[in-house]
Amino acid sequence: SAAEKGGYDYFMLKEIAEQPKAVADTLLGRIDAGGSLTLDEVRIDDSELREIDKVVIVACGTAFHAGMIAKYAIEHWTRLPCEVELASEFRYRDPILGGQSLVIAISQSGETMDTLMALRHAREQGSRVLAICNTNGSTIPRESDAVLYTHAGPEVAVASTKAFLTQLVACYLVALYLGQVRGTKWGDEIRAVIRDLSGISAAVDRVLETMEPVRALARSLADKDTVLFLGRHVGYPVALEGALKLKELAYMHAEGFAAGELKHGPIALIEEDLPVVVLVPSPRGRSVLHDKIVSNIQEIRARGARTIVIAEEGDEAVAPYADHLVRIPATPTLLQPLVATVPLQVFACELATARGNEVDQPRNLAKSVTVE
Ligand code: AGP
Repeated sequence: SAAEKGGYDYFMLKEIAEQPKAVADTLLGRIDAGGSLTLDEVRIDDSELREIDKVVIVACGTAFHAGMIAKYAIEHWTRLPCEVELASEFRYRDPILGGQSLVIAISQSGETMDTLMALRHAREQGSRVLAICNTNGSTIPRESDAVLYTHAGPEVAVASTKAFLTQLVACYLVALYLGQVRGTKWGDEIRAVIRDLSGISAAVDRVLETMEPVRALARSLADKDTVLFLGRHVGYPVALEGALKLKELAYMHAEGFAAGELKHGPIALIEEDLPVVVLVPSPRGRSVLHDKIVSNIQEIRARGARTIVIAEEGDEAVAPYADHLVRIPATPTLLQPLVATVPLQVFACELATARGNEVDQPRNLAKSVTVE
């Protein structure tokens, strides 16, 4: 009913709007007064966490994209090797796991059969399993050694939005916590990022306030057949997520690429007026990546692409090559997906509406996939 949708036309719109709160709720009570993380719910002893020699993440769909982003954070802040694998592929390739592997299963519903089977396989190999889940008491957390709940609240729309942002928050918390417990040379950075996380909810709110031009752009592209998404580093999984949203909702051909791969094939797809969304990393910090993306944008634009550029406020270098420029607040590089994903959700939702599609209940899809 309209009341359930809180005055919005679709649950998806409501859930997109709830993201600042979902992010804040997921951080709530997990950062102490001294600015350290307290994850008491992770009932795996610190001594055991210090013994871990590798992290393996298993998930499907959007949760898998959260896992891909987690890999960058975990490897950087903990110096532990981290693999990310589609849950449906994982147990069929005879993965190497043992008592010192920490397996992280990410699932909004907690009922995804592929993810459940992957975690059962991991436990059979003697690994510890930590679930990141949004649904209290569901099967995946019940079968795990520990669980870190995301506090997104119920997600009704089939296309995952607020659950994704809170999965990211939970992944950063785990990465930072492992860094904190194990002690790495990144101690100062870890403390700074914990502080930055507290400002993310407000940053997501700011993005939501500036989405009208993105909606207008989406409407103007309603008769296109293909949209491409490019990103690097953590922007690469964001590109994949943007493409997945568009497939699910707008039933359009959409593909995400690592921008560095362009010249290894995908650039052949570029033609006159093809919309290409580009996620631009922060010009601060790892600015080498930023400069490389700027030249990628120049390359595709020279071949006629219509460039839709998502870039940090104050990044002037990209402006001359952007047919459409979408601004997002400045964040540390690793946290950028929390703000960069939001315009892609709005874009896909509006395109679906413009194409007359059922936003909350896309064809052929179920909210939770309980068969393999
Ligand atoms: C996302 O928009 C999808 N509907 C889908 O990819 C989903 O993320 C995937 O099926 C995993 O679901 P889960 O998080 O409930 O395990």
